[in-house]
Amino acid sequence: MGPAVVQERRVGDVMKRPGEVGQDFDAYAKAWADQNYEMEAGYSASGLVRDSSSTGVRNPGDEWGDLDALREQYRKLVDRLRLPASLSVLEIGAGGGRSTVALLDVLGDRVTRYHVIDVAEAFVETLRGRVSRELDIHIVSDVDVSMIESSSVDLVLSQSAWSHINLYDQYRYLRDLRRVLKKGAPIVVNGQFLLGAADDWTWNRFRRRVGQSERQVEGVYHEFTSIAAMVEMLSRLGYRDITMFSHGFIARRGDLVGTKHHPSLPQGLTYRYRSSLDLWSADGRAIDAALPPRGPDRPSTLQSRLPSRLRGVASAARANAGRARRSVKRRVAARRQH
Ligand SMILES: C[S@@+](CC[C@H](N)C(=O)[O-])C[C@H]1O[C@@H](n2cnc3c(N)ncnc32)[C@H](O)[C@@H]1O
Repeated sequence: MGPAVVQERRVGDVMKRPGEVGQDFDAYAKAWADQNYEMEAGYSASGLVRDSSSTGVRNPGDEWGDLDALREQYRKLVDRLRLPASLSVLEIGAGGGRSTVALLDVLGDRVTRYHVIDVAEAFVETLRGRVSRELDIHIVSDVDVSMIESSSVDLVLSQSAWSHINLYDQYRYLRDLRRVLKKGAPIVVNGQFLLGAADDWTWNRFRRRVGQSERQVEGVYHEFTSIAAMVEMLSRLGYRDITMFSHGFIARRGDLVGTKHHPSLPQGLTYRYRSSLDLWSADGRAIDAALPPRGPDRPSTLQSRLPSRLRGVASAARANAGRARRSVKRRVAARRQH
């Protein structure tokens, strides 16, 4: 979850550059001590709900979610991801270090190198004071991963930060991260506002944003995107094993593909969906999904691979099976009536 409004401002340019997002977070981190933030605990009809009983808020950014819960989430996630025994990590948007501490607690000595990319110097100050192990911290003012060696990273994590990056910069990050990720290595983005999952957290944040625009009020910037937009972006960039959740995604670096003109994809896009990262981490299960939805205009992938002569046979067989099923149902219903 992102921070609450730092200060109210007239709406200017709604699309911010990463450096401008950094100004919001710098202001937030500097004003933090005076705010007495309580832990964010969800959303209700009257807005963001904070938990006054939680004692977990000690450093700037702790208020975005319970550290112990995050550590447990990462423990299960790391088991599920099948990461190498020793690994190099890149975290995008580490802020005050809540997620960094949680991940390092889980990975411990397995981490050979831990890179952080962030835009807000004031937040990263907290991170420096909080994590004793060596971190490679890179403060950037635009999307930039050029300081990281090619094919060197085994895991990219972005926790509660991706929603502060505009859609075009999300694409630029995903495009450029392919160079630094090892082939097959995962990127985990957790904490996105994805429309298309029928989720109250996202929808109510979206409504709040509309209200802010109408009242000419600007808070910390959140980007809203959709499951469909992310699946298309990731697929077009050659990522594979795409699993979407209602608040983020996991995908692995595949083959590098060009970024020039891309043809339409008559067979559409395929991915896997599970409602939450926690559920997926627990059992690894997700359902196969396709965009646009499959139907008469777009047969399943298997069907489309069949020669057209066999496609006719397959559809006749399906029609026969449907007729047979309906006839059995009718006979069973008739027998019940007697
Ligand atoms: C809500 S905080 C999350 C911090 C931390 N990951 C956590 O979960 O507590 C978002 C962080 O993302 C950073 N950020 C925003 N836009 C960014 C960008 N374009 N590139 C890198 N970091 C960015 C902010 O400066 C901030 O530190």
